[in-house]
Amino acid sequence: MSPTLVIRPFQTPARGVAQVPGSKSITNRALILAALADGVTLFTGALFSRDTRILIAALRALGFEVTDDEAAGTIRIVGLGGRIPRDRAKLHVGNAGTAARFLTAFLALAPGGEYELDGDEAMRARPMRGLLDALRAAGCRAVAPDGSAADGFPFTLHTTGKLGRLEVDASASSQLLSALLMVLPLSAGATVSMKGSTVSEPFVEMTARMCGQFGRPLARLADGSWSCPAPGSYVAQPAYAIEPDATAASYFIALPAVTGARASVRIEGYADGGLQGDTAFAKVAAACGAKLRAADGTLVADSWSGIRSGDFDFNAFSDTFLTLATVAALADGPVKIRGIAHTRKQETDRVLAMATELERLGLKVEPSAAQLRADESLSSLTVFPNKAALRQAAAAGPVEIRTYEDHRMAMSFGVLGSFDLFGDGRPWIAIQDPACTGKTFPHFFRALESLRTNFVRVSVDGGAASGKSSTSRRLAQLHGLLHVDTGAHYRSLTRALLLAGASADDPASVKAALARLRIGSRLVARQGARSSALTLDGALPDDADLRTPEVNAAVSKIAALPSVRTFLLEYQRSQVKLASEQGFAGVVMEGRDIGSVVLPDAEVRIFLEADADARARRRAAEGQADQVTQRDHLDATRKTAPMVCPNGACRLDNTHLPLEAVVAQIGELIKVAALPR
Ligand code: DC
Repeated sequence: MSPTLVIRPFQTPARGVAQVPGSKSITNRALILAALADGVTLFTGALFSRDTRILIAALRALGFEVTDDEAAGTIRIVGLGGRIPRDRAKLHVGNAGTAARFLTAFLALAPGGEYELDGDEAMRARPMRGLLDALRAAGCRAVAPDGSAADGFPFTLHTTGKLGRLEVDASASSQLLSALLMVLPLSAGATVSMKGSTVSEPFVEMTARMCGQFGRPLARLADGSWSCPAPGSYVAQPAYAIEPDATAASYFIALPAVTGARASVRIEGYADGGLQGDTAFAKVAAACGAKLRAADGTLVADSWSGIRSGDFDFNAFSDTFLTLATVAALADGPVKIRGIAHTRKQETDRVLAMATELERLGLKVEPSAAQLRADESLSSLTVFPNKAALRQAAAAGPVEIRTYEDHRMAMSFGVLGSFDLFGDGRPWIAIQDPACTGKTFPHFFRALESLRTNFVRVSVDGGAASGKSSTSRRLAQLHGLLHVDTGAHYRSLTRALLLAGASADDPASVKAALARLRIGSRLVARQGARSSALTLDGALPDDADLRTPEVNAAVSKIAALPSVRTFLLEYQRSQVKLASEQGFAGVVMEGRDIGSVVLPDAEVRIFLEADADARARRRAAEGQADQVTQRDHLDATRKTAPMVCPNGACRLDNTHLPLEAVVAQIGELIKVAALPR
């Protein structure tokens, strides 16, 4: 088992491009079809994961030439038109359901073959019987180590190379049917019919469509059986593009549900209308509150508008049920997931595993884990959300989620753990054996991490009329930051103190008046930016009242008083938390001592300058009577928190620079600071 991974909640919106790998289902089908084609096939966008490597290794062991280039995402395979070079081989399929089923049917094409097959403990318990029984009818023998007829791994498969009329019970897994459909065209006159029905129909559809893509369309007869009207070997594909994995994409559709406002994740190459039935998850997600925008083959998943309760049938895209089941822990009401009986025999008993771990997180689920253990036929799961219960369960530290060697357990709980449950970034979920994602998505946690945008704090200091406000507002607008004007804080206080009859010359009067003031914050939209403004006793002062000649004349003196500065310091620092809580990508705070005192560790520190003439002209253009140089002198020479160019700050003289040029320069610094760690 790989070391447990503590999931760090996202305190900033998830943003960026999700690195979704190629589809496992398509890659493994394509490998089989290409091996059965006549000539060289090249895949692009292929998945390199445990399950695809197992199949590649098996094909090599059978004598096929397969070369791969993981960095380039390509696989080249020389197909032999239905011939399997080795008629003896020992193959291990791990816990790869596709490899297990597809290979078994594939081997049946070898005349007089004898193959020893085995899988992991978990694979030994997964459904194979329907396929082995179907092949027995075609003259194959699957023999268990004790000599009896095998109904699962391990077994030795004796093959005849002929298929004929096959009948398969694929009620436990659609892969049992898909495996036979892919070999059907290689045996003239072969047909496949089904006993009863199967699950996950879209995967059968995917198989049939891919047989067509490789030049051997299948036909479905009136009685429901399958045949290939023009049998023969498949046609090699010199450039076959594997679609990004729709199941893997579900985690990135879900992530913006849990990472606050302003999240926006791009899923490129998302193949709606492609081969994968799991794209249907997007519709369920949308019904639950996902906000999805699709354009030009890219799906953009924005922050959800809440997580709504509901009742959903996941039978046709059951691999994604875990994605919703975990997010359901934060929904506004119960979420029922139906049609998932067959997932109880997948990588693990997924319904039981999910119920068990949600219960360990303090949640109620129906049926309970105990009921599921007692009754293997239960086929649905209802999750009852309860944040208080989650907090209680994780009060003493992160709950370690057991993943049962199931990659989807690890990934879906990884998404849930990204939610900032405690509001302070404290982790509350840890994932046991995170490397189990290697089955289909080896770099899942890296891909998750890359969507974490760093929260960026920008300090903009400078003298009066140096352009701080216009620069800061524009930065806020462009980079999704919360704008905080601390000059306005001092102005608000100055006005209130003047109204209360206090005077800068009488510090005791100021102290007494301060003690009676109650300050708060309110978010306001100004000039395209969102700003946090200081409220006094709940009221927002009028902007014009903060720029009267009386306030202009008194503010620097009031601001020089240590009691005033202490009064505002914690308040100003608290704005960073506010910005984070409100889902901003950061904060841009302007003033005189921001980079030096208030946020000395701000990631980006700016000191703006402009010559005296330019500044006087700017104030005059605003219609203000303001002695800017006089104020600067007072601000720069006071004892407490004087205006200085902060350590390491970028000094920018904007006398001759247009606003957009200044903003572009600072924007570059912000982008670097926001890059994920
Ligand atoms: O940025 P402004 O002109 O609105 O600021 C008004 C006054 O507030 C300024 O002259 C000094 C004081 N101030 C301060 O002392 N420290 C800050 N961080 C911001 C403003």
